[in-house]
Amino acid sequence: MKNLYIFGLLATLTVVGAENICKLPPAQIPTEWITMIDGCTKHMKDQIAIEISAAMTYMAMGAHFSRDTINRPGFAKLFFEAASEERQHAIKLIEYLLMRGDVFKDLKSIIKEVPKPKNTTWINGLDALNQALRLEAKVTVDINGIIKVCDTPKNKANDYHLVDYLTNEFLEEQYKGQRDLAGKASTLGKMIKNHGALGEFLFDKKLLNGELKFSK
Ligand SMILES: *[C@@H]1O[C@H](CO)[C@@H](O)[C@H](O)[C@H]1NC(C)=O
Ligand SMILES: [Fe+2]
Repeated sequence: MKNLYIFGLLATLTVVGAENICKLPPAQIPTEWITMIDGCTKHMKDQIAIEISAAMTYMAMGAHFSRDTINRPGFAKLFFEAASEERQHAIKLIEYLLMRGDVFKDLKSIIKEVPKPKNTTWINGLDALNQALRLEAKVTVDINGIIKVCDTPKNKANDYHLVDYLTNEFLEEQYKGQRDLAGKASTLGKMIKNHGALGEFLFDKKLLNGELKFSK
């Protein structure tokens, strides 16, 4: 009985102790190092939603071309890989903001704002490539928009590091990716024109074997 009492006391103390740990206030440390201006941070967070949305669009494309009735494994592979890349872009942006001291108090609203993909079926591979190219062109405009906001001296925003990061890491990949999609759409367009559905079938095989890359 006495043992039970002691056990109960210990259990209570443990729970109280755990609660105290959970209720520790956030660390009180200097904030002078957190220098991103709000407008710039907001645009970066909007871009996270845009990248997640692009990932969802490519995932839908991958699923579409994987249907047994469509059965274009090369296109499916291309778009599922693109979905992974877009997801990685979102993670890179999150990591960048964390590095600069953001604590994502607004994570809920960022997730809520992710635009849903408009289409879930595509006429053929060429239609999907063209839509992917338009999507990337829009993303490029969006990234240039962030650069503009974060590099406006009159707002005291000369975020050299962020602007350099977006230019080198993101714009570089956008321009290469756009060229890659444009080249693929061009080749596929010619193959369909000369060989109809057989052209798309052969193109899909080339995609599967990784024979159609623009660079790397
Ligand atoms: C969805 O598909 C339609 C019809 O093919 C096309 O006109 C439209 O641009 C597509 N929307 C997006 C966001 O790609
Ligand atoms: Fe992206």
